[in-house]
Amino acid sequence: MFKILVADDDEGLRLSVTAALRQHGYDVESVANGEEALTKIRTNSYQLALLDVQMPKLNGIETLKELKAQDPSLIVILLTAYSNVPDAVQATKLGAYNYLEKPIQADNLVYMIGKALKAKSMIEALSFSAPQIKLPDGSQFIGQSVEMKKVFSVIQKLAQVDTPVLIRGQSGTGKELVARALHFNGPRKDNRFVSVNCSAIPETLIESEFFGHEKGSFTGADHRKIGKFQYADGGTLFLDEIGDISAAMQVKLLRVLQERKFMPIGSNREMEVNVRIVAATNRDLDQMIRDGSFREDLFYRLNVLPVNLPSLAERRPDIEVLIQYFIEKFNREYKKDVKKVSGEAMSLLRTHSWPGNIRELENVIEHAFVLEPSAEITVASLPELFQQKKINTEIPTVTRPGFKLDLQRLDFQANKEQFEKEFLIQALKTFKGRINQTALHANIPKKTLLRKLEKYGIVARDFSESTAVGEE
Ligand SMILES: Nc1ncnc2c1ncn2[C@@H]1O[C@H](COP(=O)(O)OP(=O)(O)OP(=O)(O)O)[C@@H](O)[C@H]1O
Ligand SMILES: [Mg+2]
Repeated sequence: MFKILVADDDEGLRLSVTAALRQHGYDVESVANGEEALTKIRTNSYQLALLDVQMPKLNGIETLKELKAQDPSLIVILLTAYSNVPDAVQATKLGAYNYLEKPIQADNLVYMIGKALKAKSMIEALSFSAPQIKLPDGSQFIGQSVEMKKVFSVIQKLAQVDTPVLIRGQSGTGKELVARALHFNGPRKDNRFVSVNCSAIPETLIESEFFGHEKGSFTGADHRKIGKFQYADGGTLFLDEIGDISAAMQVKLLRVLQERKFMPIGSNREMEVNVRIVAATNRDLDQMIRDGSFREDLFYRLNVLPVNLPSLAERRPDIEVLIQYFIEKFNREYKKDVKKVSGEAMSLLRTHSWPGNIRELENVIEHAFVLEPSAEITVASLPELFQQKKINTEIPTVTRPGFKLDLQRLDFQANKEQFEKEFLIQALKTFKGRINQTALHANIPKKTLLRKLEKYGIVARDFSESTAVGEE
């Protein structure tokens, strides 16, 4: 329930306003002056305050300044007598949402409050990020979908413990971001976060990469080398693409997980480490266990606390906030001042299938930054793929055939021919009678198109630019 604070020295007004607002389901408290309002706000949290401009002790304008300093998101509406309207206008520059002239009409007041609170909750929803999840390079974890809010709260809890975590999700869903968030929001944050991409290291080198080696332990080992496990001591070791390690390495990894001990190559001394393991994969580990390419015992060791990242298509409410986030990021990087995305471009972005997830979205926005000369991202600056789509998505709207099924005459051939005829006419209209364009975008082989035009006696030229003018 929304909480509202009313401050006015006129007791009659306080009572009537309080009663009217309570009737509309608001939780209301009232005080008689600005000072009391300040005291109240220190111990309570309100979404909105109604302040009389003329009040003893601290007037409405002074109170507004103080309240806003304490809580910038508080909505303030001033209540003012006619003689103080200029002050109230001035106050909107100090952050007041609006003012109402006395005598106050309950209807106007309720309407204005409803509108203000709606705007406030919309803004808050849009700017929802996970401020509690910090990353040292200033990058943020964005998401307002129910799915991501769950992920954020899981990260919060998992960051505090030492148990291994297995992060699963398609490519580009943010697995590495989760791993870093786990490290930098927990007690290990002042030690190292070490990331190893298991699929990028050749099989012959991976053991040395993990555990290190002594000088001369194998051909080419001309220095003693510290492995990643030792390097990450006290911190977190992120094993990316864990699904790609060999059977032999799986055994060795299992042993470190169980005993926290390992032996560098060529050494006869066991090393003990305190490392938190976070692993990630986009492979289907369940299938790999079934076909024997991933050890079940290792899987259970790693999978004590799983984090599953949904694909971007499964959390569409995040698309718009992510776009906003990337625009701000690239504005800084490219020293540009892109303000928004055009409606048409936004609708293409919102409905795209995003097989490459957030990484793809980030790349698309960066692409637009490079190409877009104006302060608004338009369809023209999106990658080729979206240009194609633009035409495709227009077909059902612009050229939707006026075809009606003839239910009196349930004859398949007749209905099909009628449909074809109308479809071709609409397609030619859309592509201004150009045969090649029509064939390409309406997805008809050119030969078929020409044959059908002849069959129905349709002349493509009739739809060319000059004759199309004045149509519709
Ligand atoms: N929720 C998010 N908020 C902000 N940025 C995000 C979010 N999720 C992912 N990103 C960004 O998208 C990009 C891809 O994320 P990341 O590298 O973590 O994905 P991944 O799952 O590890 O992908 P892959 O499987 O291909 O390695 C990164 O630049 C990352 O910062
Ligand atoms: Mg990754």
